[in-house]
Amino acid sequence: MTAEPAATADAGRLTDPSLYSGGDPFELYAELRRSAPVCWVDREGGGFWAVTTHPEVSSIGADPVGFCSSRGILIDEIGTTYDAPPTMMHTDPPQHTRYRRLVQPGFKPSMVRLMEAGVTAKARALIDPIQAGVALDVVQELSVPFPLQVICELLGVDGSQWPRFFEWSEAVIPGESERSEEERGLLQIEMWEYLIAVAEARRSAPADDLVSVLANVGGDGGDGGGGDRLSEAELAMFLIQLLVAGNETTRNLISGGLVALSERPDQWAALRADRTLIPSAVEELLRWTTPVISFMRTATAPTTIRGQAVAEGDPVLLVYASANRDEAVFGDDADQFRIDRHPNPHVAFGFGPHFCLGAALARLEARVVLDQLLDRFESLEPAGPVERTASPVIAGVRHAPLVFG
Ligand code: HEM
Repeated sequence: MTAEPAATADAGRLTDPSLYSGGDPFELYAELRRSAPVCWVDREGGGFWAVTTHPEVSSIGADPVGFCSSRGILIDEIGTTYDAPPTMMHTDPPQHTRYRRLVQPGFKPSMVRLMEAGVTAKARALIDPIQAGVALDVVQELSVPFPLQVICELLGVDGSQWPRFFEWSEAVIPGESERSEEERGLLQIEMWEYLIAVAEARRSAPADDLVSVLANVGGDGGDGGGGDRLSEAELAMFLIQLLVAGNETTRNLISGGLVALSERPDQWAALRADRTLIPSAVEELLRWTTPVISFMRTATAPTTIRGQAVAEGDPVLLVYASANRDEAVFGDDADQFRIDRHPNPHVAFGFGPHFCLGAALARLEARVVLDQLLDRFESLEPAGPVERTASPVIAGVRHAPLVFG
């Protein structure tokens, strides 16, 4: 860390879980953007620079040479080293470039389009039982099962498996499950074995799904893989990441997005009146909820960020949730939810070479859910207090009682 950093006492609250469950992080972000956009946060286990402005979050994300991912992407990983990267998010070029080249074919728009009918059927099956005028917890009834069922489809496995996937996914994320370390370890082994068995089956009998693409990349499939294959460990790492990355994020986009709409009846009415607004509404929901609050990089050489000197090895936290409310980019109404916002250069999916691989799928899921709900219901209103999770990383909604009319 460089001498005389612009530290502020308040910035320490960024790591306080209660800010996210009960406070208003957006007030703090606004204050930091105004008074200390690049500020040092002291923390037991290792401090970091918090970067809260949009231009800097974007330019650091776009520079994997100056700011690497291989030394951790979460502040809890400060000081940790890995024998093998736990996810592709933890890799830098050229290793990362290779992973992107190998797995990207599985996410191309034609693959995502293939999923639309299945995604729509899943949304409809969950939305059909919802009754007008009867309050429900939209998290439990819709946002938890829906992305997991979509992931089952992505992996080409039976959708009824989703509660198992839920348990596995919770077991991977530290602090998400009340199970013992031993139980979590056993669940992770079970998940690894299950996913590898699915991949092996697709190697011998490929189908039209992502696992088949991943299991066979670099074979004779003419995908440009050039004979390069994912090893079993890499394949498992990637499949596990899909299960985790595509689950909580989309869950919270849907829950947080519906809560935002329930608080603004005029926006629901506007969407019903003009469905062509759905794509821009989805972008605004992404900006507004920013399901991944922040990810970290590490400076690989001495540098400056917005005039602030930063030393080699300093961790730098990219606060996406703050960048997405930056008045300098989104204008005077940055703190207003507007489904017709245009342009909307939000960074909810990150920015640069690690830009979310599942973005098209997440957008499809949000669009389909909105479309189905708008077909059925004239109104959406709050039906009780919303309970948020105490996570500084994922903007989680635990319970969201809502009533459709
Ligand atoms: C609303 C939903 C989602 C949000 C907000 C989200 C957010 C993000 C963000 C911020 C990153 C950047 C990581 C970084 O810069 O270090 C990322 C990467 C990634 N996401 Fe998503 N994600 C979502 C849904 C999905 C889905 C549905 C999938 C797959 C099924 C997925 C798979 C991935 C993968 C594989 C990466 C790593 C890309 C790389 O390292 O090159 N995500 N996501």
